[in-house]
Amino acid sequence: MWGNYCNPYLYDRLFTFSFSLSLSLSLAFIATQDRLFTMLRLRQITPTLAILLLVLVFATVLTSNRYSHWYSYYPAETSTSPQPSQGKVHVLLLSSWRSGSSFLGQVFNQNPSVFYLMEPAWHVWATLHMSGARELRMAVRDLLHQVLKCDLSVMDSYLPPRSKASKLFMWSHSRALCSPPVCSLTPPGAFSKQLQCEKLCVNGSLDSTVDACRNYSHVVLKTVRIFELESLYPLLRDPTLDLRIVHLVRDPRAVWQSRRKLANDLVRDNGLVLQQSKLKGLEADYRVMEEVCRSHVRIHQRATLNPPDFLRDRYKIVRYEDIVVDPLGQTDAIYDFTGLKMTQPLQQWIYNATHGSALVKHPFETGSRNAKDVSRAWRTTLPHQQVRRVQQVCKDAMSLLSYRAVNSDKDQRQLSLDVVLPRAVDNKFSWLPANITKHQ
Ligand SMILES: *[C@@H]1O[C@H](CO)[C@@H](O)[C@H](O)[C@H]1NC(C)=O
Ligand SMILES: *[C@@H]1O[C@H](CO)[C@@H](O)[C@H](O)[C@H]1NC(C)=O
Ligand SMILES: *[C@@H]1O[C@H](CO)[C@@H](O)[C@H](O)[C@H]1NC(C)=O
Ligand SMILES: *[C@@H]1O[C@H](CO)[C@@H](O)[C@H](O)[C@H]1NC(C)=O
Repeated sequence: MWGNYCNPYLYDRLFTFSFSLSLSLSLAFIATQDRLFTMLRLRQITPTLAILLLVLVFATVLTSNRYSHWYSYYPAETSTSPQPSQGKVHVLLLSSWRSGSSFLGQVFNQNPSVFYLMEPAWHVWATLHMSGARELRMAVRDLLHQVLKCDLSVMDSYLPPRSKASKLFMWSHSRALCSPPVCSLTPPGAFSKQLQCEKLCVNGSLDSTVDACRNYSHVVLKTVRIFELESLYPLLRDPTLDLRIVHLVRDPRAVWQSRRKLANDLVRDNGLVLQQSKLKGLEADYRVMEEVCRSHVRIHQRATLNPPDFLRDRYKIVRYEDIVVDPLGQTDAIYDFTGLKMTQPLQQWIYNATHGSALVKHPFETGSRNAKDVSRAWRTTLPHQQVRRVQQVCKDAMSLLSYRAVNSDKDQRQLSLDVVLPRAVDNKFSWLPANITKHQ
């Protein structure tokens, strides 16, 4: 079978190549037929002719049948020269597990201009789960690249043939997949209702998802599977994309607490992050935290210290705790950065989502709860020893992101001691020396 690593463009070329081959062969065959037939007196089918016929049959079968679904949901643009983004904005929401990215994803998702998918790269890791994050980096990158362009043919490597839109990971969390033309449930401008969508929209086709995607001014993808920015350079350089990167980070100690509660759900992803190392239990999770924290530092430094030109003004870091303290102000700023308009109903939705009860039914659900309480829960529930260990493996990230370490059990539990320090707004790079050397 063809490997999962295959690039869809390869199929495109294969198709073009075999199509032209069969066309020229047919023409050559027709052109020479009369002469051949007279020459050979019809009875002597030479080996050359037999081989030609065989190739012709093979090429025809190849182009017409078995691989047709590879190009059936190709956008028409791929065959013409690249178009500029035409005002369309593409957003990658980069985050890590248990960092509030489901919530921030919903802040995008509920906007009527946004086509949002939650974690499409999940499919890469789920399909190739015996591998490691490093080996899958480019497959993840290519998948995000194509999906941002509304090309879902890339999903072919990861979904059964002729899948419905409801085979996409967390599909019902995406308002666009519960709205026309995929499903008639959610009219334009309305908020989506996930449970109703799960019941009524399961039969939406993947092709209609492509049509939907092209209809929105913004495509937003959330992912926790990017650990550096370099692999995204081709996306940033792609003239048909107008890419903005929103980097959501959270206090590693709060992340740790949330991860402990879900330890079993995270085992498979941990295996990939740790390159299938033999570490188990707490030790494995400390190592994952270390990787995650390092990736935050790596991404932030790449984007802010001496960034290549094509990264300038395309990166914004957001701390979960700042959203919790000022949800409307922070989401306004994120909307500004991504060229989205804030509306009154959206503000109401954001307010509700951050000021509900602390009930969380499903670990991956963005229910409304009191976000402030949730964000501080680690201080009363975590053993101090674990906090110290996390502070140690995440030392650099904590100092970069202005999270203050607590040095005693007493300090940890004393909530009046603030451990989330204010940060300067730095997405404009104004604090960088003006004459720093640029390199690509
Ligand atoms: C989806 O399709 C299946 C099979 O065709 C059908 O049984 C089911 O009722 C459909 N569901 C909806 C919500 O249309
Ligand atoms: C999608 O396109 C149709 C027809 O052009 C339009 O009526 C509809 O409002 C669009 N939907 C969105 C979400 O842009
Ligand atoms: C927010 O909550 C209020 C009170 O529960 C409710 O009336 C309103 O419909 C909610 N709005 C949104 C957009 O969720
Ligand atoms: C440019 O940066 C260098 C150090 O990298 C510094 O010595 C020099 O004074 C700076 N020039 C200006 C004009 O700021």
